[in-house]
Amino acid sequence: IPVDPFDYVVFGATGDLTERKLLPALYHRQIAGQFTDPTRIIGASRSELTSEQFREHADKALKEHLKDGEYDKDEVAKFLARIEYVPVDATTNKGWDALKKMLEPGKDRVRAFYMAVAPSIFGPICDGIRDHKLITKQTRIVVEKPLGRDLASALELNNMIAKTFHEEQVFRIDHYLGKETVQNLMALRFANMLYAPLWNANHIDHIQITVGEEVGLEGRAGYYDKSGALRDMVQNHILNVLCMVAMETPSSMESEAVRDEKLKVLRSLKPITEENASAMTVRGQYRAGASKGGAVKGYLEELGGESDTETFVAIKAEIENWRWAGVPFYIRTGKRLASRLSEVVITFKEIPHSIFGPGAGRIAANQLVLRLQPDEGVKQWLMIKDPGPGGMRLRQVALDMSFAQAFDVRNPDAYERLLLDVVRANQTLFMRRDEVEEAWRWCDPILKAWEETNQPVHGYTAGTWGPSKAIALIERDGRTWHEPL
Ligand code: BG6
Repeated sequence: IPVDPFDYVVFGATGDLTERKLLPALYHRQIAGQFTDPTRIIGASRSELTSEQFREHADKALKEHLKDGEYDKDEVAKFLARIEYVPVDATTNKGWDALKKMLEPGKDRVRAFYMAVAPSIFGPICDGIRDHKLITKQTRIVVEKPLGRDLASALELNNMIAKTFHEEQVFRIDHYLGKETVQNLMALRFANMLYAPLWNANHIDHIQITVGEEVGLEGRAGYYDKSGALRDMVQNHILNVLCMVAMETPSSMESEAVRDEKLKVLRSLKPITEENASAMTVRGQYRAGASKGGAVKGYLEELGGESDTETFVAIKAEIENWRWAGVPFYIRTGKRLASRLSEVVITFKEIPHSIFGPGAGRIAANQLVLRLQPDEGVKQWLMIKDPGPGGMRLRQVALDMSFAQAFDVRNPDAYERLLLDVVRANQTLFMRRDEVEEAWRWCDPILKAWEETNQPVHGYTAGTWGPSKAIALIERDGRTWHEPL
């Protein structure tokens, strides 16, 4: 469905995020027919470029980041014709009047300001927008992580944004919420009767959330070494996935209804503190090893210095409410793991009693596996009778649905959905400020406990599933990490 014309102003227009994600995502939305003329994309950054020079820059970015066959000359020409550029220095007065003038012809359109810049300049940009009276009734602002590095800095950032914008105007992106399979979690849970009655501690034994990456530092040492896996992945992406799995049924898909339920999950997370941190968490850091068949350096060699930043974290999280009491949520994420694989695994309880006798073989608990990426899909493991006349032997089989095989459509990038949701003023898949703060309220004590107790980072060989301590974390409870088949 096409949306009314809008102006997207991207601060940080010559940066990595704009090139890799924003421009390709907007281009795909144009191809999908969602743009109505005279929709514009207005780049802004400190570089002294003309609109024409920026169009060349954008063209190069599309050539580099679109997949094979996606670069269509005519579509790109149409897309580039929408692009303008204004040099703006957020920290001085420079460029703001020119931006104001540029926006003048579109003053009744939706106006989205995208902060593809470091959080340290969110403040000056907000001030510039406010002081130059660029805020209309239809204005929204889009911000992205890192939204703070602890609760105090997140509060500071949110307060600073709130000085200029109402919460209804603020769109905090967590790109995991834009991923198809994360949204599919809601479809699976709330559009099917099948799982709803079983989705609780009476029937579920435990849940695993794995977000594995093959990549290492990717030239982001400056950011990553100050963050580590807990801040980089758990505080945002993984907790969002966990909320989608664990929340109660919202009253509707309205943003406040969904976000209220997510917030309740965050509030019910059992605190991890100095007393239990070493039992509930494992930190790891990769050593030299292999990835994609080639030798790779260890974290410290890549960094070129000493550091005890974790590149892997495993956590046994617990949700203290009626639905989930006693059901552990085992979380793990890391860089340079065995494969790029993200999944949620729901393991149901074992049957209370077997009527089949020992000859039937082991009766495994049912598992529901939601593959978030790659090879998005849903797999339900069931027990069936082994085919043939040989008596009642049982075996485990999967009802397996791969989205790529089932639907002949391109899997859109998370940003495509989210960028247009901003224009449509739909905040359901964006983080409300209290969610971000609550997530920090849970992560802060973990970080503090690690520091106070000097919790070690355990080395793991690049190309494996993390340190052996992480295996011990789950095996101690008589369970094992799901091995993707
Ligand atoms: C980002 C993190 O938010 O998410 C990166 O900063 C990480 O470190 C990335 O690599 C993972 O996103 P995706 O979509 O590739 O799973």
